Amino acid sequence: MTAKVIDGKAFAAGVRAQVAEHVMRLKVEHGITPGLAVVLVGQDPASKVYVKNKHASTIEVGMASFEHRLDADISQTNLLAVIDRLNADPAVHGILVQLPLPKHLDSNLVINRVDPAKDVDGFHISNVGLLGTGQKSMVPCTPLGCLMMLRDHYGSLAGLNAVVVGRSNIVGKPMAQLLLRDSCTVTIAHSRTKDLAAVCRGADILVAAVGRPEMITGDYVKSGSTVIDVGINRIERDGKVKLVGDVEYATVAAVAGAITPVPGGVGPMTVACLLANTLTACYRLNGLVELKGLTA
Ligand code: GUN
Repeated sequence: MTAKVIDGKAFAAGVRAQVAEHVMRLKVEHGITPGLAVVLVGQDPASKVYVKNKHASTIEVGMASFEHRLDADISQTNLLAVIDRLNADPAVHGILVQLPLPKHLDSNLVINRVDPAKDVDGFHISNVGLLGTGQKSMVPCTPLGCLMMLRDHYGSLAGLNAVVVGRSNIVGKPMAQLLLRDSCTVTIAHSRTKDLAAVCRGADILVAAVGRPEMITGDYVKSGSTVIDVGINRIERDGKVKLVGDVEYATVAAVAGAITPVPGGVGPMTVACLLANTLTACYRLNGLVELKGLTA
């Protein structure tokens, strides 16, 4: 079997086009421009690239983009004061604090300072709790993007066995919650899981979010299953820097029924879902009815 390639890049372009259309309508019909504020602390090269991409995509869909680049040695008090100002700013509907933060800052404290209604990352403890109890919340962007692609592929996910490899707060745990909410039978596997390959071979849906280059090989995968590769790893091969996922593409694509590539799979969906979340937050903050299909 050669797997169907799930084209995240094309899917994300469709989501962005939909967001752009509704941003325009918000402006014309309500005089509202959705605004996203991104806070970057320090000079982490990967984070700088992500923030630049987010800024460009935000502008492209017609939203306002507010970038706050802060010194790596900013005090906790001053960073919290920046967040307080963004919470109070009516032009800002979404706030994202780029992670990781420098070590002297308490990430949990910072994340939980963001107004939950503007928490487009879905990391605030109140959004985490709402998601876990099946209530309306802001949903983390990467798992939301994965869910959109899976729903599109299957229609209904009910009854499917899903294995999520990785237990991070950003991807693994919220991904598992979303799959559970769509009536999958969900297993969260991790570095201490016994016989990980056998556990993964039980999956109709396998989500790889471990951060280890090409760890999931063909022998982890059930024939005909769907493999979602969340990994973005830069490795050096043949003297060149290459972007690879957590999945060994060639061996897995030979077994799976469908697979997301790296690059061009989950990555573009994450940014598209950030814009979708900003639009959703803007609708909710203004007491407007949000769009189905752009939320979980
Ligand atoms: N760093 C890596 N991924 C993410 C993400 O999804 N959100 C934020 N805020 N920082 C990140």
